[in-house]
Amino acid sequence: MATSPETTKLERYNSYLRRVNNTKLLAASSKLLFRATLLIALVLVFVFTINYPPIGGDGNFLNAPMHTPNFLSAAFYGSGASWEKQVRHSSTPRRPNGFSVLVTGAAGFVGTHCSLALKKRGDGVLGLDNFNSYYDPSLKRARQKLLSRHQIFLVEADLNDTPMLNKLFDIVPFTHVLHLAAQAGVRYAMQNPQSYVASNIAGFVNLLEVAKAANPQPAIVWASSSSVYGLNKENPFSERDRTDQPASLYAATKKAGEEIAHTYNHIYGLSLTGLRFFTVYGPWGRPDMAYFFFTKDILQGKEISIYKTPEGKEVARDFTYIDDVVKGCLGALDTAQKSTGSGGQKHGPAQLRVYNLGNTSPVPVGRLVSILEGLLGVKANKRVITMPRNGDVPYTHANVTLAHKDFGYKPTTDLAAGLRKFVKWYVGYYGVQPRVKKENDVELPAPESSHA
Ligand SMILES: NC(=O)c1ccc[n+]([C@@H]2O[C@H](COP(=O)([O-])OP(=O)(O)OC[C@H]3O[C@@H](n4cnc5c(N)ncnc54)[C@H](O)[C@@H]3O)[C@@H](O)[C@H]2O)c1
Repeated sequence: MATSPETTKLERYNSYLRRVNNTKLLAASSKLLFRATLLIALVLVFVFTINYPPIGGDGNFLNAPMHTPNFLSAAFYGSGASWEKQVRHSSTPRRPNGFSVLVTGAAGFVGTHCSLALKKRGDGVLGLDNFNSYYDPSLKRARQKLLSRHQIFLVEADLNDTPMLNKLFDIVPFTHVLHLAAQAGVRYAMQNPQSYVASNIAGFVNLLEVAKAANPQPAIVWASSSSVYGLNKENPFSERDRTDQPASLYAATKKAGEEIAHTYNHIYGLSLTGLRFFTVYGPWGRPDMAYFFFTKDILQGKEISIYKTPEGKEVARDFTYIDDVVKGCLGALDTAQKSTGSGGQKHGPAQLRVYNLGNTSPVPVGRLVSILEGLLGVKANKRVITMPRNGDVPYTHANVTLAHKDFGYKPTTDLAAGLRKFVKWYVGYYGVQPRVKKENDVELPAPESSHA
């Protein structure tokens, strides 16, 4: 059928309209796509922001499992020529045949003291810590300042940050790792169990993975805990006693660490030494530990709870002064043999050890409180209650024969002398008006027999 000029015009007009509509539709969908992309980007930024540092269910910043974006950011910030220079400088030993030690948990209580002692004798020390908020991070920052005054550089990163760990091992041929970073504390495990798994198991495995692949492989000395003895009935606790009855998740993760250490020693030839610390105390200590918060509460006139066992006995601890533990850590590092593997391949059997580091004289918690009362010149407001089922054990008591035989470990500070040093630091650090008596004025209560 022939088409009239009018029909042709109409068709052209319709096709023009379709083109216009298509263009409009395209423009509208591009706008929509652009907006959707923007929205997704904003959501991602928001998610990453709230996850760094991670916040736990109870609202605290926690040592919870970390996500890749955090690691990217840690590795990103830890870069640049001046950063690498600091890492190298801090790790370089200043004595002949000195060690180059990576200290994890260096902003922690034991980590700070060990780092200072190593640096003092001429070893190179590089610290690593994630500064989590399990307890007041400002105390960790103050320890960091102290380390920095002694030319010890601290890398802020998580144990699970593989790129960062790889980077550090690329820059520095560490001879040793003193691995102290962990989620500590027995009672907190009921509140935030995942933080124990993230740091004490996943974090430890990550560190071992990086160390086993390093060339040279470092020798590793790491912190286990007296808590692995759990419900052990032998007394004093010896390394040969059973450790398959942990009373807390914390203890279970430390016990898992000992088994994991066995595996990495067996497969990859890593030299591994586990140290079972017994209730370490002293200046720059941990605010979550009884001697620390008792001091705070006694000074503030608050009531303190002293636990007794369900049988009515006093709870006792083998309190070990920090300087003794530091000597034990250095002794273990000095006697650690080299790892036998390289680049993930084992070339022969390697050393695998476990030692108790305690004080060998348990003291009932009631006596700890009497000593603090004497030192602070304040009477405590005490309440004796039956120990709740929270992971605590009734007593601890170390047999340290093995550590003495292998590296001369011999604790020399008794609880009264150690607490005096702690209280002196405490009143200075927190600016408490010192009612602390001088050495000769202090009336200490008569020694009591221990329960352990
Ligand atoms: N103090 C004791 O009485 C005692 C007793 C037995 C065992 N230990 C063990 O000794 C070690 C040191 O204890 P401490 O008293 O100095 O504790 P601490 O909490 O003061 O120090 C541990 C440090 O590790 C850091 N950290 C935790 N998880 C980390 C992670 N995933 N990545 C990087 N850093 C992380 C923390 O920020 C902290 O600064 C720990 O392994 C602890 O379990 C301590």
